[in-house]
Amino acid sequence: MSSADDPQRLAVLVHEVRSPVAALAAIAETFGDEDLEGRVRFELSRLAIAACLGIQRVVIDAAIASVRFEPVDVGTLVHEAVATASLAGASIDSEVTPHIPRIAADSVRLRQALDNLVTNALRHAGLDGDVFVSARSSEALVLLSVSDAGAGVPIADQERIFEAGVRLDADEPGSGLGLAIARAIAEAHGGTLTLRSVPGEGATFTIALPVSQPATLASTRYC
Ligand SMILES: Nc1ncnc2c1ncn2[C@@H]1O[C@H](COP(=O)(O)OP(=O)(O)O)[C@@H](O)[C@H]1O
Ligand SMILES: [Mg+2]
Repeated sequence: MSSADDPQRLAVLVHEVRSPVAALAAIAETFGDEDLEGRVRFELSRLAIAACLGIQRVVIDAAIASVRFEPVDVGTLVHEAVATASLAGASIDSEVTPHIPRIAADSVRLRQALDNLVTNALRHAGLDGDVFVSARSSEALVLLSVSDAGAGVPIADQERIFEAGVRLDADEPGSGLGLAIARAIAEAHGGTLTLRSVPGEGATFTIALPVSQPATLASTRYC
């Protein structure tokens, strides 16, 4: 997993996050002044939003900056993600169809994307609700889906929930970054992350990844 350039990447990440975090700290301190004019408060909140967007951007870029391709069996990824969630007490099931071709992918990043979807599904499945994870393939695509039978997503919000920082229920825990990161990871693999949801009947998030050409797969190095 580790490589010689990881410390450098981490140093860059720390450097890029430090400045917006320092800005947020200064803004928070200034906000404590009760005599602040409304106009100044407005300007401060604008600056705080800009700092947050900066942090979100850095976090998402970091999630895809180090994609390392290797031959990956997505069925194993699904089994591992489901086993881990089950061990933590989740009610979760899976189906992996036979003969899914291995693809050139980053198993760690893909697992990260899958885990983000599973975490969301478990949170939204509702009391006693099951989560179902599947892997299957067609001629051109390998598909990973995570479904729950919870409240689903209102039609008007179905695209915007993929934007960084968007959360539909502010009382729920979370950063609003999980779907943005999962989509960025899918796209870094030349794939997509999409949602199908009938409000009131649950949600299915699907990562679609291109089937790798045999030549690509053969030349892909294990790390
Ligand atoms: N399975 C799901 N069912 C219903 N709503 C969902 C589901 N997954 C995500 N969402 C909505 O999308 C929003 C963004 O998700 P995400 O980017 O993972 O951020 P977070 O989980 O930190 O809130 C969530 O806050 C929630 O409103
Ligand atoms: Mg999430």
